[in-house]
Amino acid sequence: MDEDGIPENEVIKELEARRKKDLTYSGGRILSSMCSSPHPLVKKLYPMFLETNLGDPGLFKGTRELEAEAVRIIGSLMGHSGARGFILSGGTEANLTALWIARNRMRRPYPEVIVPESAHFSLDKAADLLGIKAVKAPLLPDHSVDSEKVAELVTENTVALVGIAGSTEYGAVDDIEALSEIALEAGLHLHVDAAFGGFVLPFLRDLGYDSRPFDFSVPGVSSITVDPHKMGLAAIPAGALLLRESAMLRAIETPSPYLTERKQHTITGTRSGAPASTVYALLRHMGRRGYRRNVERCMMVTLHMYNELRSMGLRVEKPWMNVLVFKDEGGKVRKALMEKGWVLSRTRKGEARIVVMPHVTRDTAQALIKDLRDILG
Ligand SMILES: Cc1ncc(COP(=O)(O)O)c(C=O)c1O
Repeated sequence: MDEDGIPENEVIKELEARRKKDLTYSGGRILSSMCSSPHPLVKKLYPMFLETNLGDPGLFKGTRELEAEAVRIIGSLMGHSGARGFILSGGTEANLTALWIARNRMRRPYPEVIVPESAHFSLDKAADLLGIKAVKAPLLPDHSVDSEKVAELVTENTVALVGIAGSTEYGAVDDIEALSEIALEAGLHLHVDAAFGGFVLPFLRDLGYDSRPFDFSVPGVSSITVDPHKMGLAAIPAGALLLRESAMLRAIETPSPYLTERKQHTITGTRSGAPASTVYALLRHMGRRGYRRNVERCMMVTLHMYNELRSMGLRVEKPWMNVLVFKDEGGKVRKALMEKGWVLSRTRKGEARIVVMPHVTRDTAQALIKDLRDILG
């Protein structure tokens, strides 16, 4: 560190120069990410909460109330307004916390969790950190988990089942009702990872699309991950963990004797109140109608692209939600698009993948289709 600091305007210039190297969602070229530009209201309100610390909530009672309210509203969206939980740093922390609860509640000497092969790698991290064996369940051709195979994998060591509602690669939704039956019969924790689908599926249903039940309306569901920083239009970091019963928190209760709250139930100690408060603001401002419109727009672009890509002869998977995947031998199409400035991701099988987030507009889709036509000749 230098002995003397430099003037503010010079620091700002330095940061602006670095920031110019970043891609932006509003630039319209990012087709690989499950995040997007945050809603403008978030940018207005964030500074109000910069000093708040939900790790010491007795000092920030108002902010703590906002977190509880945000959890209650997301809980009601998930079919249970009495759900308890937290606004955490994202899907990884929410999944880790859910498995932490499940492991501690079951207390098995050699704990195992049954996870679909489609699961996000955060569940591998969680299993590793918690000393749980992640047993992978195979998928059906539609990329959802084979529930019959899940039932066969249950052993006396199983502490939890995980179902995915909106898989990272295909947006696939597992048969949560079938998993619920297995979980209830075996007395297991059923965690649903709806990090992406949580802010999509309820609105797909409103819009008349076919969508599988995945939330607390399914009786065996114990906990759900829903990420406001994906389709919820919140700023990074914001992930929610929702629990069916507050009693589950006892399993991870840790005394915090020198703070204003004597027990903590989160992995992180000091945690900003800005994500929770701005998530609350968005939920209040957007309402169901606002989020429904958001999903409606994304789906219109998704289905437009789906039809166009098919008409070009590309083998496109029928989309479960606003995620498009098409066969791409040797990654050639993806590479050619990347050369034209697009950023696409790939599935583990090597297919090209496009996430149609709110920043992927109809104009973006048209520009992409034009470039694709040029590439495919
Ligand atoms: C289904 C699913 N779960 C969990 C995660 C992890 O979320 P995060 O990156 O916010 O920690 C992701 C990220 O894309 C995801 O798609």
